[in-house]
Amino acid sequence: MSRAKKKAAEILARQSELVQQAFEQFGRRIAGRVVVITGGARGIGETLARAFLKNGASVVVADRSWGGAEAFRRELEASGHGLPLVMNAIDDAQIDSAYAATLDRFKTVDVLINNAGLVSESLFAPMGRVSTLDTKDSDWEAMFRVNLFGTLKTTRRFIRQMLEQRRGSIINIVSSGVLTASMGGGYYAVRPWTVEMPYQATKAAVMALSFYLAEEIRYQNVAVNSVMPGHTRAAWFEATALAYQERGMPYITRPMIAEHMLPIVLFLAAQDGTGVTGRMYNIPDWNYDHGYGRAETWVDHNLPSDIEAAYARLEAVMPVFERSGMADLSFDALSILFRAGLKNLADSGGKLGS
Ligand SMILES: NC(=O)c1ccc[n+]([C@@H]2O[C@H](COP(=O)([O-])OP(=O)(O)OC[C@H]3O[C@@H](n4cnc5c(N)ncnc54)[C@H](O)[C@@H]3O)[C@@H](O)[C@H]2O)c1
Repeated sequence: MSRAKKKAAEILARQSELVQQAFEQFGRRIAGRVVVITGGARGIGETLARAFLKNGASVVVADRSWGGAEAFRRELEASGHGLPLVMNAIDDAQIDSAYAATLDRFKTVDVLINNAGLVSESLFAPMGRVSTLDTKDSDWEAMFRVNLFGTLKTTRRFIRQMLEQRRGSIINIVSSGVLTASMGGGYYAVRPWTVEMPYQATKAAVMALSFYLAEEIRYQNVAVNSVMPGHTRAAWFEATALAYQERGMPYITRPMIAEHMLPIVLFLAAQDGTGVTGRMYNIPDWNYDHGYGRAETWVDHNLPSDIEAAYARLEAVMPVFERSGMADLSFDALSILFRAGLKNLADSGGKLGS
């Protein structure tokens, strides 16, 4: 077995161990809960739904479309405690019907995960990068409609039962692109070079919504928290990675598997407003702080062979830099290493595409 294959096998084994660790730590408290996941037919939401099902929760998966996800839909139905629904998160009538169907089937709602969303790669498929001044009003409207108003409308409905029973947990999925930092003076964005308007504007709005709503309902025992996944392989990933590869470029660095989100999402789902609320967590940092590994522990080593080969070539020429106390490199450091990798690749006459 080659060294790279051996390392990949070790990482895969470690990932399974960590997922198991999360199931053991939080599974018992998840069993029997009613969990609603929007946009769960595919991508990150599908991984979350499967994990909740495995841990004995009743799972409502509400997605605007099930095309290409029919097998998962049948699996949910056959599980006896899964409810796949068609629900467009921007449509009030469909949200009302989904809420009624949820109560009809499971009688309550304990957890709402607002995961449905458009990312830059799905709005501007496949490349996902349009500079701000080239975006149209209709792009902003489309994205705000789903990412912000979809989250708001779905929350307004599904929170009703949680407020009534005075127990619940709402988890909103945002992005590390909303982060700012300060070195003692004014705040600056941590990675403003990623060309992600209007996406990051919508996620900043969801961040603010989450903070303010959490405060307003904190005495009613309903927690509202947000999480920022690392760069994660989802439904749109292969089309985007291949489109970059065709142009001789890597699509940033190797993505993580969506399972890296399980420890914190299970933790937040297992608690309510008597626990943590009004917080926003960067998942790679949370994982590191809670014994769930550094970011590199979660990278995807099951990619299709052409995409795998391209990342392997890039990684072979990317300088290595590690720093104690950090789950992952800072975005600036990652960007410098990535650019150095690209330069090394070009200098060596290496090609990324196969
Ligand atoms: N993948 C990443 O690297 C990453 C990073 C940070 C945040 N996120 C967030 O994670 C969430 C999931 O994204 P993903 O990467 O899995 O994308 P994805 O495209 O694989 O999945 C999104 C799902 O949402 C559904 N959806 C879209 N619009 C909807 C609507 N109006 N109503 C109901 N469902 C709708 C889609 O049908 C799809 O099943 C999003 O909120 C995204 O912003 C993803």
